[in-house]
Amino acid sequence: MTASSTATLSFSDGSPSIEFPVLKGTVGPDVVDIKTLYGKTGKFTYDPGFMSTAACRSAITYIDGDKGELLYRGYPIEQIATNCDYLETCYLLLNGEMPNAAQKDAFVSNVSHHTMVHEQMQFFLRGFRRDAHPMAILTGMVGALSAFYHDTLDINNAEHRHIAAIRLIAKMPTLVSMAYKYSAGQPMIYPKNDLSYTANFMRMMFATPCEEYQVNDVLVRALDRIFILHADHEQNASTSTVRLCGSSGTNPYAAIAAGVACLWGPAHGGANEAALSMLLDIQKNGGVEKIGEFITAVKDKNSNVRLMGFGHRVYKNYDPRAKLMRETCYEVLGELGLQNDPLFKLAMELEKIALSDEYFVSRKLYPNVDFYSGIVQRALGIPTSLFTAIFALARTVGWIAQLNEMLADPDQKIGRPRQLFTGATARDVMPLHQR
Ligand code: ACO
Repeated sequence: MTASSTATLSFSDGSPSIEFPVLKGTVGPDVVDIKTLYGKTGKFTYDPGFMSTAACRSAITYIDGDKGELLYRGYPIEQIATNCDYLETCYLLLNGEMPNAAQKDAFVSNVSHHTMVHEQMQFFLRGFRRDAHPMAILTGMVGALSAFYHDTLDINNAEHRHIAAIRLIAKMPTLVSMAYKYSAGQPMIYPKNDLSYTANFMRMMFATPCEEYQVNDVLVRALDRIFILHADHEQNASTSTVRLCGSSGTNPYAAIAAGVACLWGPAHGGANEAALSMLLDIQKNGGVEKIGEFITAVKDKNSNVRLMGFGHRVYKNYDPRAKLMRETCYEVLGELGLQNDPLFKLAMELEKIALSDEYFVSRKLYPNVDFYSGIVQRALGIPTSLFTAIFALARTVGWIAQLNEMLADPDQKIGRPRQLFTGATARDVMPLHQR
């Protein structure tokens, strides 16, 4: 990070102009370093939603929204999704480099041997109603982990941070499957450490004590790819939540629980569920024949209808993850003999029409990862209410990598945004009888 030039801020009220350094990253927009602004002028900046604010420096994930490019540690997502598995991706995000064979074996073994959760967690789980939303359960259970691992709560200790990272990555599939089994009224299936990370998760989800789960490599690979595509996405809302929460010095389990809570929102992790519901709705109301009518409603500003799974704050081009997800959709439906799946056909037709429609073209609205991931998860047998929990499982590594990067940064401070105050100025409290 180098200062490449300066920016001058001038005021129309006669206050003197000030210069700020302009910082250059390795790639991406330059950043005006305004951290001395308040000290020099007594003024803050105002930027709700962080539309123009880089809240940190990071070397993990890079997105070029105009090109439709996503890089983890410099590697294009397309290459990672076709050449690596999820645990290699986790290693890369956490450590900055791809593992060699020995490093991968050691990492896989380490994660595999931390998959069990403390047996007391069962009692904690049973405190929830059976119809609790999986994200409510997950938020509570991830936070509860901090009560079981007193030995790794010192976030200033790099060894503690490492073991907490391994534990969280290893235990998340166990927690998600526990939440699912609990809602289905089935007994929990314990992890089996000789299976791959994703095969183990699918077995914990779909096996019962009466029937073993038959691992299918194509389906395991599909879910593994969903994990890879959701592993990190730079400074999104949940990641920024984890960073802000962690900046107070809280333990990693508490910070990740905050990320889970943030992800739950429909504007963030809940969109794949919404995209699938939209497709099911169109199908119920006439299917492909009704796409024209639906698109007309989407374009009508008074209708409040959006084409879910389309558009993105950062991508103003085809989301690279959506292309990979569409490919996976073909593979999964082919494997399951569902090539003629009406939902998939509907999605493809909808995509074709939207991509050639002036409304979507002029606004640069393209399919995002959620457009196809719901169809894939549904075909895999994952219930819709669990989609966001699957996203949380996959994103856990990104949250930890970002948290650990922040904690290791010598410039790190507790996050403390300021405000533009618009409330009442100082006034006196009147006694109750005079109000
Ligand atoms: N359908 C119809 N019109 C849309 C859509 C859509 N999906 N997305 C954006 N637009 C239109 C807006 O109405 C607006 O039009 P206008 O300029 O005529 O007023 C224009 O495109 C810009 O839209 P904004 O809402 O300002 O764009 P923003 O960057 O704030 O929103 C968002 C991005 C929230 C993702 C939006 O595109 C959307 O709601 N998409 C559908 C939900 C979705 O798929 N979310 C998943 C995101 S990916 C993820 O979280 C993994």
